[in-house]
Formats: sequence, C-alpha cells, structure tokens
Amino acid sequence: MSLETILEQYPVDLELKGGFGCQLRPLETEDESAFFEFFQQVPMEERLFIKHRIEDREVIHHWCANIDYDAKMPLLAVQENAVIGAATLHQQMGGWRRHIGRVSVLVLPQYRGRGLARRMVAEITELAQHAGLDFVEAEFIGKQEAAIKMFGLLGFGPLFTLPDYVRDMEGTTHDYTVLSMPLKIDEEYAGMG
Ligand SMILES: CC(C)(COP(=O)(O)OP(=O)(O)OC[C@H]1O[C@@H](n2cnc3c(N)ncnc32)[C@H](O)[C@@H]1OP(=O)(O)O)[C@@H](O)C(=O)NCCC(=O)NCCS
Repeated sequence: MSLETILEQYPVDLELKGGFGCQLRPLETEDESAFFEFFQQVPMEERLFIKHRIEDREVIHHWCANIDYDAKMPLLAVQENAVIGAATLHQQMGGWRRHIGRVSVLVLPQYRGRGLARRMVAEITELAQHAGLDFVEAEFIGKQEAAIKMFGLLGFGPLFTLPDYVRDMEGTTHDYTVLSMPLKIDEEYAGMG
C-alpha cells in the first residue's frame, strides 16, 4: 500500500491519559503559522539540540511550501488549531540508505507525560512499515534520557554511541546515539513460538 493511501486515514482523534484529546494529521501548507508558533514555544535549552534553525520563519516556510510526504512526512498533533507535537518520518529517496527511515519527535513541555510522543512514534513506525522500509532509526544528542527510554519501550535498540561526536548550537560537544528497530519479521520465524 502506498504512503498516500495510508495517509487517507487521517485526521485521527486521540484520547490520551487523563481524557486529554487532540488530533493527528499530516502537515499541510496552510499550517505554516501554527507550525512556526509551535517551534517558538520550544524552551531555549532544548533548541540547542535541534538541527534546524527553527527561529527562522524562512526555514519553516520552506518546509511548508515544499511538502513531499515520500521524503519527509511530518505528523502533527493539533489541539484547537495549535500544534502541540510533531513526529516526522524522513526517507532517503535512493542510495544505500533508501531502506532505512529516520524518525524524530518533539512534544511541547506542557503536553508531555500523556503518552503523546509514544503514540506519534508508533504511528510513524507503522507508516514506515507501509512505505516498505526495513529499518527505522532515531538519533539523539547528549543524554536525552527520557526520549531514549521512550524509544526503547517501542522496540528500538541501541545501534551505536559516538562519545563527544556532535556539537550543539552553542558549540558544546555531546555524545551522538543512534537507536534502530527492524520493521520486517523474518518469514522463516513468523508465526512460530
Ligand atoms: C521525549 C519526548 C518526545 C517525550 O514526549 P511525551 O509525550 O512526554 O512522551 P510520552 O508521554 O509518550 O512518554 C512515553 C514514555 O517515555 C518515558 N518518558 C517520557 N518522558 C519521560 C521523562 N521525563 N522521564 C522519564 N521517562 C520519560 C516514560 O516511560 C513514558 O511512559 P509512561 O508515561 O507510561 O511511563 C519529549 O520529552 C520531548 O519532546 N523532548 C524533546 C525532544 C526530544 O528529545 N526528542 C527525541 C529525539 S528524536
């Protein structure tokens, strides 16, 4: 099944811990302002760990004006027109990493601890499976212990950690960790046990 067909299932209404409700759906061009507002609410100490210049409206404009779900599929968690979380499936459209997807996730602090990230990453993993990928990876800078724990609960395992390999936006070096999860079950073993 193609990714486009799978995306027809959205929007999806979610009810999370404590009866908290929101909607999941793919990013659309019209989301530019709400998506930009979302990033501006990320605390300064966490922005250091984000790869992109999220305070630059032009960066967000470029993403929203050039949506290509096959290469980059941002799934938004939306509540009353405000974006409160986002998880993205990144794919290489060719080359020797074309069978490996990468997932990133970010939830605004006031909406954490309700199971939103876990649900979004589970959805992205399912999309990756439908897109025919063999593996999905997640990368972390520094400790990011909560995130590493959450991905572990979803079945991601450690691939490698490179000590002091990456630099945050202030130039401080941090460990670089990559977790991975296989998406294909070996048919020889499927159904056994
Ligand atoms: C990591 C992050 C996405 C978690 O979002 P969240 O919506 O609060 O996560 P969930 O509520 O789905 O938590 C799932 C599980 O992760 C673990 N977890 C989440 N936050 C945790 C914390 N602060 N400390 C310890 N464990 C934590 C828990 O086991 C939790 O399950 P439980 O509540 O049933 O015990 C959020 O803290 C965030 O956006 N951090 C900054 C960005 C980031 O680190 N992204 C990951 C790199 S791609």
